Amino acid sequence: MKDPVRIAITGGAGQISYSLIFRIAAGDMLGPDQPVILQLLEIPQAMEALNGVVMELNDCAFPLVHDIVASDDANVAFKDADFALLVGSRPRGPGMERKDLLEANAAIFSAQGRALNDYASRDVKVLVVGNPANTNALIASCNAPDLDAGQFTAMTRLDHNRALTQLAQQTGKHVNDVENLIIWGNHSATQYPDIAQCQVDGKPALELVERDWYENDFIPTVQQRGAAIIKARGASSAASAASAAIDHMRDWALGCDAVVSMAVPADGSYGIEEGIIYSFPVRCQGGHYAIVQGFDIDAFSREKMQATENELREERSAVAHLLG
Ligand code: NAI
Repeated sequence: MKDPVRIAITGGAGQISYSLIFRIAAGDMLGPDQPVILQLLEIPQAMEALNGVVMELNDCAFPLVHDIVASDDANVAFKDADFALLVGSRPRGPGMERKDLLEANAAIFSAQGRALNDYASRDVKVLVVGNPANTNALIASCNAPDLDAGQFTAMTRLDHNRALTQLAQQTGKHVNDVENLIIWGNHSATQYPDIAQCQVDGKPALELVERDWYENDFIPTVQQRGAAIIKARGASSAASAASAAIDHMRDWALGCDAVVSMAVPADGSYGIEEGIIYSFPVRCQGGHYAIVQGFDIDAFSREKMQATENELREERSAVAHLLG
């Protein structure tokens, strides 16, 4: 048996975590031969609820779980963490402006960035799920100067998975038949789900669907899917978000053949300005991701990529004072 790895999860008593933690404990993220130590972080008011989660984890008697740490101290929860899934965040309250939300979360993610910097494994892989995810990841990264900026990523895999299914259903194919689908930019309604590069069962996707469906149905459906789930379920997407977080971390850690979408530090690829966390097409191998180069960008795509880049730059400006 391998040595256990330490997995920190914040917002451990929340909705997403109620699915996420149990699937990680069952081996869905790192495989059936990788023991884990779960290090769960919550705010003090939610520690009793987190204790309930820990009781249930214990009651599952998961063979892969070697230990469970539950804490309201980020320095404890991130200690020696090999993986950190930052799920907990401040939801938008009544009367809260977008700027207030950015600021409230900026305070959380700057503190968590510092704790990761001081206590986590030097190789920690960080995934930010809590919204606004891209900018929260930027704030955490800027507050962790001893870690590489590339260790901080944000989740657009749920958007990617949503888009895969929409396209597969429209073309009467399976998600496994879809290649080179890309989510560009921010995990928000400005994201650009791009099928211009995409093949379905080996054929160019844009030859299989109407342009009108692509522009006026597919793109807004993927962009607005979170709101549609809330309307239907009366609660936000939790199981699908947890599943996407597992996909993101599994592929990053263990590699995968497919092109997937991850929000990572922009490095100038595709003309996107450095200094923001932007979703790109990536390939993962050997515990590393690399932005896939060489996709042709037409004028339609460029405009959409620019719009979501602009939003990320505005978010960055709003929290500039916290970026260290
Ligand atoms: P939730 O409200 O059920 O759970 C959040 C938990 O985080 C709560 O238990 C809360 O006490 C905890 N928390 C708040 N501040 C914390 C802190 N400083 N440290 C540790 N824990 C803290 O929310 P849910 O449904 O689990 O969603 C979590 C986040 O994920 C939200 O921001 C949501 O918008 C975001 N999300 C992101 C998606 C993506 O694709 N990137 C998809 C779906 C949700």
